[in-house]
Amino acid sequence: MEISIRSCHREDLAGVATIFCEEYAKPPYNLKWSEKNARTKVLEHFHGDTILVADTEKGLGGFIVFRSALWGESDHGYIVEFAVASELQGQGVGSQLLDAAEKALKKRGVTEIELVDVNTNADACEFYKHRGYDVTDFVRMKKPV
Ligand SMILES: CC(C)(COP(=O)(O)OP(=O)(O)OC[C@H]1O[C@@H](n2cnc3c(N)ncnc32)[C@H](O)[C@@H]1OP(=O)(O)O)[C@@H](O)C(=O)NCCC(=O)NCCS
Repeated sequence: MEISIRSCHREDLAGVATIFCEEYAKPPYNLKWSEKNARTKVLEHFHGDTILVADTEKGLGGFIVFRSALWGESDHGYIVEFAVASELQGQGVGSQLLDAAEKALKKRGVTEIELVDVNTNADACEFYKHRGYDVTDFVRMKKPV
């Protein structure tokens, strides 16, 4: 399949929001995002982060949101959101998006890239491990207020 990775344009945001809603509604996330809130969310990322999208012969196939921030003596990269449309998963779209994000972050001087995912997302964890990511010893905590 022909895949091309490019910067996200404002006209892509509705398509990105649709993939966002559909993919995060599935296990292991089971998150109920309305299309309206997802559009607001991706618009925030559009202004504050970098979004790359994948064009495929079936249309917009996936997206990756990332940012960099100063951390100690160097810049850290963060993969913030990342999803490929279900019908296109397993065909290399995610690999190309992640490669392009890593390349862009390295160009900015980033020396390490972090991401957070639920530990029940076995497929995604395997995907990241195959691409050199290791599980860290950080703990994520929360409380309702
Ligand atoms: C995780 C995700 C982004 C990966 O994207 P992708 O386009 O499926 O990734 P690729 O096709 O490049 O690679 C998928 C890997 O699974 C394998 N695979 C085989 N069949 C597959 C299938 N039906 N579905 C998914 N992956 C499959 C591929 O061979 C590849 O193996 P590798 O890691 O050894 O190379 C994508 O699956 C996804 O959007 N999942 C739902 C949302 C999610 O979990 N996001 C991560 C948030 S941090």
